[in-house]
Amino acid sequence: MFKSVFRSTNSLSTIARQQFQLNGYCTSTGGFQYILSEKKGKVGIVTLNRPKALNALSDGLIGEINTAVRQFQDDKDVGSIVITGSEKAFAAGADIKEMAPKTLSEAYNTNMLAQWHDLTKMSKPIIAAVNGYALGGGCELAMMCDIIIAGEKAVFGQPEIKLGTIPGCGGTQRLIRAIGKSKAMELVLTGNNLTAVEAEKAGLVSRVVPVEELLPEAIKTAEKIASYSQLTVAMAKEAVNASYELTLAEGIRFERRLFHATFGTHDQKEGMSAFVEKRNPTWHNQ
Ligand code: CAA
Repeated sequence: MFKSVFRSTNSLSTIARQQFQLNGYCTSTGGFQYILSEKKGKVGIVTLNRPKALNALSDGLIGEINTAVRQFQDDKDVGSIVITGSEKAFAAGADIKEMAPKTLSEAYNTNMLAQWHDLTKMSKPIIAAVNGYALGGGCELAMMCDIIIAGEKAVFGQPEIKLGTIPGCGGTQRLIRAIGKSKAMELVLTGNNLTAVEAEKAGLVSRVVPVEELLPEAIKTAEKIASYSQLTVAMAKEAVNASYELTLAEGIRFERRLFHATFGTHDQKEGMSAFVEKRNPTWHNQ
């Protein structure tokens, strides 16, 4: 079976250690500097691992997240992905020290932050498991994922206003869709934070769990998703995400067409036959 090739070192975050102890069935992948990337069965796990900077999202860290997530996207055996951080910080935002000296022309010419959106191009579901600070770009990174599960000490916010700038990676756009205009506006204009419980009440996170149960719970949810047909899961994700972009009538039509399309798949025939025959389905992802 899977044997861990993942060595415990001083640089590992508490959560990464818990993760390691949690299963003993993880295989580490890639030689990354700022993240840990592992597979547990059908779940790809990316752990942000820049503890001294509270996982501040430098270009290097974002590049590694994109690479690891792309590897899982291309891995036929992986059905879903979890992104997490440490107990203290999911991510405390974009790397302020790296960003501070940039000029307008540099920012514009390099289309600064554009590469962050790579995450939203994946068809496999991504769960953000958030403990501690998810501020600025950290909150935006979590919102780019499909589901956010929070540990009870998680803190969400867009404090960019305090730095003389504004959210630059979807904060002003995704937050309003998640929690509505008044709450989003208050967070963006005051720089105030939301606690995990407030974030759940506002609809930003799907649920709040005890700190030490966060990663196991996120993995459990990811495993459940990964146990279904990858093809059908991708269609369901595409249909839900379409609601961000389309009018209600267009969205309903898009959903119906995708629903019709499932009838051309092996897995719809298998799923419905298995129900009628009172057996478990075997998915072929086709
Ligand atoms: N960028 C770079 N370094 C950061 C950082 C960030 N976003 N957040 C924390 N760090 C560093 C600190 O500089 C400190 O490093 P040193 O030990 O070298 O001084 C280390 O991480 C620990 O941080 P603190 O000592 O500040 O820890 P704390 O527990 O006292 O406070 C905190 C924690 C409230 C999260 C505080 O660190 C903080 O306010 N961080 C900045 C949060 C922020 O403003 N985020 C938005 C960034 S801009 C952005 O994200 C734009 C965008 O839309 C993409």
